[in-house]
Amino acid sequence: MAKKGKTWIKTQLSDSWYKKAKREGYRSRAAYKLIQIDLKYKIFKVKGKFPKKILDLGAAPGAWIEVILRKYLEIPAPKRYRNFKIIGIDLTTIRPFENAQFIETHRTDIFSEKCEKEIIQPEKLFDVILSDLAPKTSGDFRDVANQEAMVEKVFEFTKYLKKHGNIVVKMFQSEFTNEIMKKWKMHFRILKRMKPPASRESSRELYIIGLNFI
Ligand SMILES: C[S@@+](CC[C@H](N)C(=O)[O-])C[C@H]1O[C@@H](n2cnc3c(N)ncnc32)[C@H](O)[C@@H]1O
Repeated sequence: MAKKGKTWIKTQLSDSWYKKAKREGYRSRAAYKLIQIDLKYKIFKVKGKFPKKILDLGAAPGAWIEVILRKYLEIPAPKRYRNFKIIGIDLTTIRPFENAQFIETHRTDIFSEKCEKEIIQPEKLFDVILSDLAPKTSGDFRDVANQEAMVEKVFEFTKYLKKHGNIVVKMFQSEFTNEIMKKWKMHFRILKRMKPPASRESSRELYIIGLNFI
């Protein structure tokens, strides 16, 4: 049998996350990226407790919300919060989740005025902010600028992050990553970057994880 190339092996491995997602009932393989980040950094612990309010930016099709939902449902029923809330925002529609009235989804652009003024601001503060936002790529110089603008926008939303809160933001490895790390360092007690095993090796994608917002 001919020796398999590196690309082939990598693709197969990536596919295994896709198959696992299908088997385990997640909407996409993205679920495992969040699971792996949480396993390492315990992002769903804010001052020792499960977060009460979570904002998920770029949330479609909704695998990250499913991860949060499953974690929340692990809490024994009498101990679950009455005011628990997950807000998911995306340009595309997020299919509803069964028996989860505490999940609110909005089809809107994170850059729109409506997004901040009508959806985020009225909630006051979040315990955790997640962003798996990925701009549509055109293959030219605009891609980098779009991605950077997105990360900056997410950072702006930290005005809605509670003290001691946590953040996870996707970005693409570039010189800008170091700039962001420098800029955000003073705002979080712990600031890390991680490329979860479920993230395709061929992609420059990585996640910035900020813990314990100051
Ligand atoms: C990789 S997907 C997110 C996957 C998601 N974390 C999950 O678990 O299902 C990236 C998402 O970012 C969304 N997106 C890109 N630009 C956006 C924008 N300006 N406003 C809102 N959502 C945006 C895309 O529509 C896409 O659904």
